[in-house]
Amino acid sequence: MTAATQTPLAKILAARIRERGPITFADYMAECLYHPEHGYYSRAESQRFADYYTSVDVHPIFGRLLARQLAEMWERCGRPAEFTIVEAGAGVGRLAAHVLDFAARALPGFYSALRYVAVEQSAARRATHALGLVTHIAAGRASSAAELPANIPVGCILSNELLDALPVHRILREHGELREIYVGLDGDRFCDQVGPLSSPALEEYFSGQGIVLLDGQQAEAGLAAAAWMEDAARRLSCGYLLTIDYGREARELCDARHLRGTLLAYTRHRAGEDFYAAPGEQDLTAHVNFTALDLAGRASGLARLGLVSQSHFLLALGRANEFADLYDEGQSEAERVRARLLLKTLIFPEGMGETFSVLIHSKGVADVSLTGLAPL
Ligand SMILES: C[S@@+](CC[C@H](N)C(=O)[O-])C[C@H]1O[C@@H](n2cnc3c(N)ncnc32)[C@H](O)[C@@H]1O
Repeated sequence: MTAATQTPLAKILAARIRERGPITFADYMAECLYHPEHGYYSRAESQRFADYYTSVDVHPIFGRLLARQLAEMWERCGRPAEFTIVEAGAGVGRLAAHVLDFAARALPGFYSALRYVAVEQSAARRATHALGLVTHIAAGRASSAAELPANIPVGCILSNELLDALPVHRILREHGELREIYVGLDGDRFCDQVGPLSSPALEEYFSGQGIVLLDGQQAEAGLAAAAWMEDAARRLSCGYLLTIDYGREARELCDARHLRGTLLAYTRHRAGEDFYAAPGEQDLTAHVNFTALDLAGRASGLARLGLVSQSHFLLALGRANEFADLYDEGQSEAERVRARLLLKTLIFPEGMGETFSVLIHSKGVADVSLTGLAPL
C-alpha cells in the first residue's frame, strides 16, 4: 500500500512533506491523533474499544477509589466550600461519571463542595460526556470545557491516560551525538529520516534528566507532556496534580532494555511498530517519562508527594473497608464474584496493576499525607 492512497490523512501528510520537506515525528503524531477531521481521537469512541481499554473501562471501582482519594484531598485542604476537580482528557466522561455518581451516593459532604470540570479537546467527545453527566451538570456539580480553567483556586487536576497520548519527538544517538528521526517520503512511502535536532530543548530534555543514550539507542522526548505539566501547575493555586498513566522513571525507560524506545502503534488490541500504517486510523502512544513530568512540575512550583504503582494506589485506598465499594446494592453472588475478578485485572501485575503508575504532586497544601501513597 502506498502513502498517497492509504488513508485520507496519509494523502494530506504526504502532500505536505512533498511540498515542504520532512516533518518531525511529533508533528506527524499530532496530526495522526488530533487532526480535526481525520485524527484518531476525532473518530467515534465506539471504534476505540476495538483497539484498547483503559482502567476506567474495567470496573467503576477504579473511579470510586479515586473519589475517596479526592475526598481526602478536599479534607487536607481544609474542606473548602468549593473544591474544583479538573479531569484533563476526560474523553466520553466515563471516569467523571464513576467519580461523581459515587461521591453523590457515598460522600455527600464532598459532593456538595465539588466543581468537576471535564476537559476534552474533541468536540464529539465533549458532546457525549455532557449527555452522560447531565444530572451532575444540572445539580451544579459538573461542567464540560475544551481547555483547562485559567485559574483553579483550590482543587485537583487529574488525568488518566492523557499524557501517553501527547506527541513525542523520536531521538537517536549516533556517533556520540543526538539526532532526530523525522518523517520523510521514500517514493510514495513514509519513512524515517535522520537529521539534526529540531530544537535545543531536546538536548536539554535528556541532559536535565541525567540521561546519556547509548550509541545507536533511540528514545522519545515528550516535550508536549512536560509543557502540559508546566501549564497545569501554573493554573493551580492550591491543591494537587494527580497523573495516572503507563510509564516509568527516565533511567528505566532509557536503559539497555529499551534500545528502540517505547513508541507503539495499537490496532485491535495488538501493539506494533509500524507507525506509518494507516495514519489517523491507529493509536500511537509512548510510555510516559515520570522523571520529565516531575522536573517540569517542580520547575513550576509543585512538590512531588510520590509515585506508586496503580496496584499500590488501589490497594492502599481499598483496604480500609475491604473493597466494599466494589459492590452495588442488590447484586447477585455471581455479579459480586465477577466484580472481584475485574478488580484483579486492575491490581494484578500481569494485568494493569504494575504497568500503570500514579504520580501525585501538591502545591500550597500543608498536610500532604495521602492514603493512596501510604506504605502497604
Ligand atoms: C487515551 S484517551 C483517554 C481518555 C480517558 N481519560 C480514559 O481514560 O478513557 C486521551 C484523551 O485525551 C484527549 N486529549 C488529548 N489532548 C488533550 C488536551 N490537550 N486537552 C484535553 N483533552 C485532550 C483526547 O482527545 C482523548 O479523548
